[in-house]
Amino acid sequence: SPLIIRDKNQMRKWSRTMRSQGNIIALVPTMGYLHQGHLSLINEAHKHANLVAVSIYVNPGQFSPNEDLSTYPSDFQGDIQKLLSVPGGVDVVFNPINLYDYGEIDSGGEGVVVVEGDQVVSCIEKSGLGHETWVRVEKLEKGLCGMSRPVFFRGVATIVTKLFNIVEPDVAVFGKKDYQQWRVIQRMVRDLDFSIKVIGSEITRENDGLAMSSRNVHLSPEEREKALSINKSLSRAKSAAKDGQVQCEKLKNLVIQCITEAGGIIDYAEIVDQHSLEKKEFIKGPVVFCVAAWFGKVRLIDNMEINL
Ligand code: PAJ
Repeated sequence: SPLIIRDKNQMRKWSRTMRSQGNIIALVPTMGYLHQGHLSLINEAHKHANLVAVSIYVNPGQFSPNEDLSTYPSDFQGDIQKLLSVPGGVDVVFNPINLYDYGEIDSGGEGVVVVEGDQVVSCIEKSGLGHETWVRVEKLEKGLCGMSRPVFFRGVATIVTKLFNIVEPDVAVFGKKDYQQWRVIQRMVRDLDFSIKVIGSEITRENDGLAMSSRNVHLSPEEREKALSINKSLSRAKSAAKDGQVQCEKLKNLVIQCITEAGGIIDYAEIVDQHSLEKKEFIKGPVVFCVAAWFGKVRLIDNMEINL
């Protein structure tokens, strides 16, 4: 059974002790409600380190006030059970209550985070009391998910920085499911000289192709069926590209039409360079086709790399 640590100082102490004994530590950051996609990252982590830490923390700093922080699913005991089933196991679970609590006396002003009991109920966009430092990856954070979620990557880069500073891992593993997030973190680590190796791990899918996501539980059976159009149309676009269709406009229309006909509302469908995430007009060199679409109240993202 993994060691569960809630206190950040204790977390850092564990990590420093282990590292001083010659261990290599990998961190897999998550927001919990774990599924096979998360577990595959832990598998990957074992290839690069002999100790694996998993963080479970629903970060209020990456949700806008109108987003789904309050309905984000959680099941800590279930998560621990799943972690027990992973080959190679997990050495430590870091599950802090609130990483924005710096212990000041509340003067009644607006903080970044509003806590009721031990439940974080909302996130205030502008920092008030404790927290005012944000990490921004200025270009990479802007397109794709950054268009409809303007504070999202600022929140992600900042919490991942905090986790890196607390856990001090040698390696950190991120899923390519959140492709832009992976690239943002990779770039941040390079630009700010974190001494951490960032690994991008492949997307885990359900048997029918749906990319696994903690948010999938909020889909009705009908919405879930319709959501298969995302992966289906991306696969079709990839085949079309392999068969010689290199005009991005054509490939995008194929995907947009298929998802829209299924009843999804497109947030974006873009073909971008795998590294810069800049939009492409023609498929040339390594690109990734990224999609975000709404099915009912659920926003899903998926992507497919195309290397001709
Ligand atoms: P969360 O959505 O819980 O995802 C945690 C990690 O699991 C991310 O690196 C994500 O890309 C990966 N992941 C999720 N579904 C996956 C799938 N189907 N296949 C492969 N990997 C998958 O992403 C976050 O949490 C947060 O933004 C976080 C990085 C923890 C910062 O708060």
